[in-house]
Amino acid sequence: MKPTFYVTTPIYYVNDVPHIGHAYTTVAGDVLARYKRLMGYDVYFLTGSDEHGQKVEKAATTAGETPLELADRVVKRFQALWERLGISHNDFIRTTQERHKNGVSSIFKKILDKGDIYLGEYEDWYCTPCETFWTETQLIEGRCPDCNRQVEKLKEESYFFRMSKYQDQLMAHIEANPDFIQPKSKRNEIISFIKEGLRDLSVSRTTFTWGIPVPGNDRHIIYVWFDALTNYITALGYPDESGNYGKYWPVDVHLIGKDILRFHSVYWPTFLMAAGLPLPKKVFAHGWWTVEGQKMSKSLQNVVEPNMLIDKYGVDAVRYFILREVPFGMDGDFSHTALVQRINSDLANDIGNLLSRSTAMAVKYFGGTLPAIGELTEIDQALKQKTVDMIEVVDKFIDELAFSKALQAIWEVISAGNKYIDDTAPWTLAKDPANSGRLATVMYCLLESQRITHTILSAFLPATSTKALASLGWNGAVTREGLAWGGLTAGTTITKTEALFPRIEE
Ligand code: MSP
Repeated sequence: MKPTFYVTTPIYYVNDVPHIGHAYTTVAGDVLARYKRLMGYDVYFLTGSDEHGQKVEKAATTAGETPLELADRVVKRFQALWERLGISHNDFIRTTQERHKNGVSSIFKKILDKGDIYLGEYEDWYCTPCETFWTETQLIEGRCPDCNRQVEKLKEESYFFRMSKYQDQLMAHIEANPDFIQPKSKRNEIISFIKEGLRDLSVSRTTFTWGIPVPGNDRHIIYVWFDALTNYITALGYPDESGNYGKYWPVDVHLIGKDILRFHSVYWPTFLMAAGLPLPKKVFAHGWWTVEGQKMSKSLQNVVEPNMLIDKYGVDAVRYFILREVPFGMDGDFSHTALVQRINSDLANDIGNLLSRSTAMAVKYFGGTLPAIGELTEIDQALKQKTVDMIEVVDKFIDELAFSKALQAIWEVISAGNKYIDDTAPWTLAKDPANSGRLATVMYCLLESQRITHTILSAFLPATSTKALASLGWNGAVTREGLAWGGLTAGTTITKTEALFPRIEE
């Protein structure tokens, strides 16, 4: 049986349209999912939409729609973007689906019956955009400490989750599992937060109606974060613990942005503890993108729209840039200059040129049919070794979610390929028919190295990889076995490609 791998993205709020920040997590999840599939895992990759809560209710009112009409409309934009970006999710969960609502009611009831959710009264400051309650002391100059917007005083009867009860157990878990929260700096922040003491958490609201009612008391709507976080198991069929839940839970990694780490590494694990369910294996928080040095915001009108980037530069250029430019886990800046620079140097020059030069030579010197090869010399062995060694390095970096380093390691092989051409000078060999055996060997090493490179790159740049492998005459499966040296055989037909990535002149 194949080992399983379960990876999730956050479910996106439908009161906003998709932007580069959403695309970032989703592309990262996709690379991981594709990579693990390539490596022979049975992968479940989940994304979806967060459709309940006051924020969505308010946005719908403003737009003159019902919340569901709004959700139906915006969800299509997310789904269309994921399609264009080549996202290979296995499932898309919407929190308005029956399967989700059932699962949420069920886990809520389980914790309620156990006594870890109880009815009490709440009075505190509430930030609607963040859907978060704050105490007086947490406010900064009377405003929300997260988004700096106005907060309102709310007093209401509320159900509370006994989060305080799980403080020690959570801390012990974090200490016993150093990789549970990543990156390390973020882990430390969460540890300090827990050390300040966990308070019981309000998990219901009576001030609006757009959500899932508390089982047995439908004056109360379940808190939107309790509702949303549960998507990770309702998508697997929970409360049915056989089937996908039994197969894929606990999740291998929740990919999220740093702003929602507390929900994922404190609230969610304690909910699961109360329900007696296993905890996620890993929660990884990535950084935030600024745009040309500024915070991305609607009011600044600088929101980067992924569709526009895809139209202009192509899907794989966008996928490449966001994962290569900034180490995963750090904040980064999006700029058009940096994007064009990456396209022209890494994509057009390095990888694109390498393939077009090599395939052009194979066509010119051998009519596109790969001849039988001779012994590998030292320089050939070196290229082969570099290619083969890269696979392990990439594997290690992917496990650390160091996408940028994984790409760097792949690009070292591409540079080595370009240098190999210069060093072996096939055009000189071609001048003398006596060298045709040597020329065949050189062409083989060059093409085989790229076949392996493009096989592993199928996780990152799926469309490009398909094109490149076709031009290399590879019609075998794109699998882990295909990463072994020696896949291409004599007689394979090589065709010349048009440029994988045209240069951008600006
Ligand atoms: N609905 C919640 C998540 C619930 S998960 C159980 C939510 N949705 S969101 O649509 O507001 O944000 C989703 C993700 O987008 C978050 O992980 C957030 O970090 C990410 N980003 C939003 N803006 C971003 C940037 N400027 N840069 C990088 N990621 C950003 O939160």
